[in-house]
Amino acid sequence: MKTREVHIVGNWKMNQTLHEISNFFIEMTKMKMELKCKAWIAPQSLHIPILKEIAFTTGAIQVGAQNCSNHDSGAFTGEVSPAALADMGVEFVIIGHSERRTIFGEDNKLLNEKVLAVLKHNLKVIYCVGETLEERESNDTFKVIEEQLKVGLQNVPADKAHLVLIAYEPVWAIGTGKVASAEQAEEVHAFIRGKLTQNSEQTIILYGGSVKPDNIDSLLRKENIDGALVGGASLKAQDFKQLCSASNHL
Ligand code: 13P
Repeated sequence: MKTREVHIVGNWKMNQTLHEISNFFIEMTKMKMELKCKAWIAPQSLHIPILKEIAFTTGAIQVGAQNCSNHDSGAFTGEVSPAALADMGVEFVIIGHSERRTIFGEDNKLLNEKVLAVLKHNLKVIYCVGETLEERESNDTFKVIEEQLKVGLQNVPADKAHLVLIAYEPVWAIGTGKVASAEQAEEVHAFIRGKLTQNSEQTIILYGGSVKPDNIDSLLRKENIDGALVGGASLKAQDFKQLCSASNHL
């Protein structure tokens, strides 16, 4: 029996048309979910209001953003404001996804500013960490993650620490079909929990990287794995539902 509530978070990345979103929720409603876990979805920012409306009617899903600016407002063309996200009733924001780090060059210092900007509005943050294949092979996994945690989470106010979730996503496992073994993931999750300076026992630590209905069980059975941050498999209602119900028989 897990003491921390299982969270299954779909990161839809830059996917889903309006038609696909509508089908996704029609399918989900047909399957009548009896959820024992928290089911969260982060669609493209543009689709947040639509998901919020659906979430309002179904009540089952919480809606978040995949990224945001480190500023609340101003001349930052194309950016998404954390203040506006709060205004829209968003519940959480993913910060520091490896695609933001590698494709958009976001470093730990900028990510720390984003974390603090999100927390200022009392939204939850899913702060992502993870090593590349090269870093794993040169035995730098723990060093890299320690630095990502230390810089990315510095100056988090004590009264906001309960709003922080961590996602461990080994870069080599994202979208590659190569899932970390439950043992490999648990080793890093335990390390992360040990490094957290605030709220460590209660902090939700998600695993991400090629999570599918057929590997979620072994991951969730591990003491320090409190859920999953899921890309590809969260796009299909059937798979997402199966991931969400995996915790029902834990
Ligand atoms: P996949 O589940 O498609 O590997 O993506 C993982 C991920 O990046 C979730 O944020």
